[in-house]
This record gives sequence, structure tokens and C-alpha cells, in this order.
Amino acid sequence: MPKIHTYILGINAYDHDVSACLLRDGAIAYAIEKERITRQKHAGGFFQEVVDYCLKAEGIILDDVDLVVRNCYVLPVEELELRMIYQGDMLPREREQTAKSPLYLPKSNKVMTVSHHLAHAYCAFAVSPFEEGVVMVVDGVGSYASDIKELGQLTEAVNPLARESESYYRFKGSELEPLKKVWLRPCRGLLSDEFFNMDGLGALYSRVSSYIFADWNKCGEVMGLAPYGRSNSFRKLLTLENGELCVPAWDAEFNQPWMPDGLKKWEASPAMRHWEDLAWQVQHDAEEVLLARARWLRETTGAKNLCLAGGVALNCVANGRIVREAGFDNVWIQPAAGDNGIAIGCAYYGHLAVQKKARSFVMKQATLGIEYSDDAVRRVGNPLLVTRKTFNGNGENICRETAKLLSEGNVFGWFQGRSEFGPRALGNRSILGDPRRPEMKDILNKRVKFRQAFRPFAPIVPYERAKDIFIGEDESPFMLRAKMVRPEWKERIPAIVHVDGTARVQTVRREHNERMYDLLIEFERLTGVPVLVNTSFNIKGEPIVETPQDAMNCFIYTGIDYLVLHDTLVAKNALYKLLAPFIKVYYESRAQTRDEKPIEAVWARGWTVV
Ligand SMILES: [Fe+2]
Repeated sequence: MPKIHTYILGINAYDHDVSACLLRDGAIAYAIEKERITRQKHAGGFFQEVVDYCLKAEGIILDDVDLVVRNCYVLPVEELELRMIYQGDMLPREREQTAKSPLYLPKSNKVMTVSHHLAHAYCAFAVSPFEEGVVMVVDGVGSYASDIKELGQLTEAVNPLARESESYYRFKGSELEPLKKVWLRPCRGLLSDEFFNMDGLGALYSRVSSYIFADWNKCGEVMGLAPYGRSNSFRKLLTLENGELCVPAWDAEFNQPWMPDGLKKWEASPAMRHWEDLAWQVQHDAEEVLLARARWLRETTGAKNLCLAGGVALNCVANGRIVREAGFDNVWIQPAAGDNGIAIGCAYYGHLAVQKKARSFVMKQATLGIEYSDDAVRRVGNPLLVTRKTFNGNGENICRETAKLLSEGNVFGWFQGRSEFGPRALGNRSILGDPRRPEMKDILNKRVKFRQAFRPFAPIVPYERAKDIFIGEDESPFMLRAKMVRPEWKERIPAIVHVDGTARVQTVRREHNERMYDLLIEFERLTGVPVLVNTSFNIKGEPIVETPQDAMNCFIYTGIDYLVLHDTLVAKNALYKLLAPFIKVYYESRAQTRDEKPIEAVWARGWTVV
């Protein structure tokens, strides 16, 4: 039978945030992060689960895939595979699967590797709404100069052990041209040590995260802490001198890192003032450098359109300044700007640069997971512990009922449609609350999210109403830019206003998320406020829920009052309330054993060597 579609699989392989993206005829069919399946945040290692997820969803096998493009920032993937199978921290089960996979050390020209920043660049411009423009990629650490084999990537006369830190490109149609690269000087140590000492913007920001939170990947928390700090009470952490980035070495001034010992609470540390001031300084310096880079890019190219990717593009405060102050007409930010988005970039590198196809797809939404059936949704949950009511019709009634209960102060888990790809819940896997209540932030933190009190919650608002409440007319569909809340609205929606008067806004168009849009309109009809608190449907330290069962588990385990699964409203009953302490212990033990379940393989019957 002749093949109907062309398929390309992009994979972010082996290190943190493993993910896969399947293109069908140049459009994203499915994409998923491994953490959503294994329930381990930022899951790394082998990529069988994510590949299986995409293939199953499309109803194909690996033989049907025309091209596989992979990346890992650490090393070229095949080189990494030679080492990974013998060393590293893989589970024995996963190591066994890796060795058996036709994608392990593949002897096929249908499998290839692309370098890291190139993959980030493709995940931005290739799916942006612009025909031409420029791309800015800034992250923690990318490929070694010596591992970048693609032509024209400005690696001439660069130390082969230097690594990518910032990359700037111009694009027109499907063509991408590198303009400038900023390299990290080689430094001693294993990769993890190196990263702590690297002299780049993203690496420095991450160093601050390690210092304050004992975790290199808490940069969002650093950004949230920054407004609590005092301005300029530290010396500069980053400067630009004639376009060259300078990162002064740390010295004895930095002598209060967080040392978790399981006894002292982070919030009670005497170093808090020091950490707040440090967070302010690194955020300020990063904004100044990013803004200068963006202005340089506009001035040297005359471009009107800017695309952003790389982990630093998750900094919504810096993004907000770039949007307002860099002088571009339009800015588009890849919602999976971190390394999860590498899978998208790999796939589009295959589509545009390898297969030489034209661009034809714009990523208007980040909902790239599978759609669960109403049957699947109705099967989950324990009838002894919860009550259900299913609303018939077009969703109007479930929105009306939810809006009413939200306006009474209840906290909702909201599960609809396809899951979001990337770190933000954008209205399909969300926890929702009433923003008019000042206490809602504390309720969410204490009963549901179990996270530090300083972290702000984000608002979701209909696109048409956003400019009335927040300053700036630009759209923010992926919650990736901070805006000032208009003074007359600050008192009306206190739960989403950060200490500096900003909010990380998500705007929604009805054509992109009809159910969420209608809920917001219903809430406005009842309260006069077209805004809800929207935070990701998870508990601190866990990934966003993927399946209806994940959603039910989170609902049962936390203080969420109601759960909406498609058209069904789920409530906790009297027996649940009696058994709540025991249920908590039960679900904690389940979470610990979850990783032991076997993985069902959908590998090819035989990979064709061509
Ligand atoms: Fe990256």
C-alpha cells in the first residue's frame, strides 16, 4: 500500500527533559515530554516512552517514520550512546531497553544528530507566524564547537572545547543564517562542575539558582524572588563591554548557599535577605544584557520580527522588557523554550534543512498531547470516595456550574482536551481559583501546591479583555511575558498581582480554547471579573498531570475542592473527608512504586537500513 504521509520524529535525547515530537507532512501531530509519562520531573535517560506515545497516538510504527533527528546538548547522540550503555545512572531496565532499540547506535541514514542551538533556533522560527525575521537563542550550555558539524555555524577559529551560550540568526522562509555566536570558555571539571563555573548568561543565572535553591533548574523561582530584593545592593554579576559579556568570578562574598539538611526550612534561613538581593541583581543584569542583545539584533538587521528560544526565554520578566523596549514589531516565543522544545527543533531541522521542504505550519497552540476519550475520563476515580455529575450539552452548563463554584471560593482541577507541551499549563491541565480573593494565593500554596509563599500565581484572561486589565496590547498565549496590572485592577484581582505589580499573563482566544474562554466569560458574568488564577495542575516537585488518572490522583491527594474532567464535575464525599489522612499515605506509597511498572514497547518489526 502506498504511503500516505511523511513522518519525521524529533527527539531530545538522554539528558534532562527528554521529549519527542512527531511531524506529519510538516505539521506537529504529537509531542510529549518523558516526565509526563514517568511522573518524574525533568525526566532524562532513554526515550522509548515518548517515542511510543507519539507513534501510538498516530497509529504507526517506527518503520513508517521517514527520518529521525536527535540532539543531546552534552555530546553528539551516537557518541553519548556509546558511553551511556556502559556508564551513567540509567536504571538496569532502561539500559536493557536502550541496547535493544533500533535507535541505539543506529546503522541507518534515516537517523541523524543536529547540534543544540540549531535545534533551539528551528523550534522557534520554523513554527513562528513570521515569513522573515531574527532568532535569539540563549540557554545554559549547548554543543561543543567541535561537535557542530553543520556548515556555516561560525565555528572557525573557535576553541574546539568552547560551548554554545548565545546564538543569533536571521531567517527568511525556510532558510536560516547564523549572525553571531557567544561561546563559553572551556573550564575544568566534569560537566556538572563545569556548568556551575561557566561564564555565560544562562549558566550564571543557573548558578544563582543552585546557590539559592540547591537546584540548577529553579531559575523561575529566582525570577519570582527577584522583586523582593533591594536594588543594586550587590556588585554587578553580568556586564557588557563593547558587546562582550563579562561574568566576574565569584569570591568570598558568596558564602551563604542553601545547604538543605532536611531539618531547617528554606524560608527560615538567615540568608534570605542575601538571597533576595542576589536574585534581584542577577535578574536585573540578565534583563539589561538580553535587552542590549535584542536591540543590537534589530539595529544590525532591520528586522521587524523576533523569535526567542533556549531556556532563558522562559524568563517572562525579561521577555516583557524585550517586547516593550527592544523595538521589534512582533515577538514570538516558543512555549517549550527549554530543552523539551529541542524535539520540535530536531523535527523541523529534518523537515526544512534535510528534506528541503517549505514551512507550512504555525504553532498557535501548545496542546500537542493525545486527546483522552470521554469513556477514559468516566472510568477513573473511586466511587466510594467521590461523587460525579456529568453535564450534557455543549459545555455551557459545566462552565456555568464551575464559574459559580469558583466564585464561591472553591479551588478547581480542570482537565480538558490535549495536554500542553512545555512547562506551562495553558488551560487544559490547570488548577483554577478566584483572583478576587487575597487569600487565594495562600490557599493554593498550603492546600494544593505546597510551594514557597513568595512565588506568584498567573492570571488567564480572554484576549479581547486583557488590555483593559493589563498594560500592553500584545497577545500572550503561552504565559511567557510579564505585564503591569493596571492600577484600577490591582485591588480587584489581588491573588495574581506579584509584589512588583506585574502578572505573568496568559491571553486566550475562543478559537484556540473554547471551553476555557467560555468559563472566563461565565465567571465575568457572575462577578464582573474576566480573570481566573491559573496554575499548573500538579503538586510541587511533580510534573503536570497527563492522564485522567493523574488528574484524579492529584485531586484526591491535595486540597482541591472540585475536579472537572471534560463534562464531568467530581466532588469529594463525606467518606473521603473521614479517610483523608489515610488516603494521603496510600497515594504517597503509590507514587514511590509507579516507576516500577514495565514499559510496553512499540518498536519497529525491523529497522530498514538504507
Ligand atoms: Fe538548551
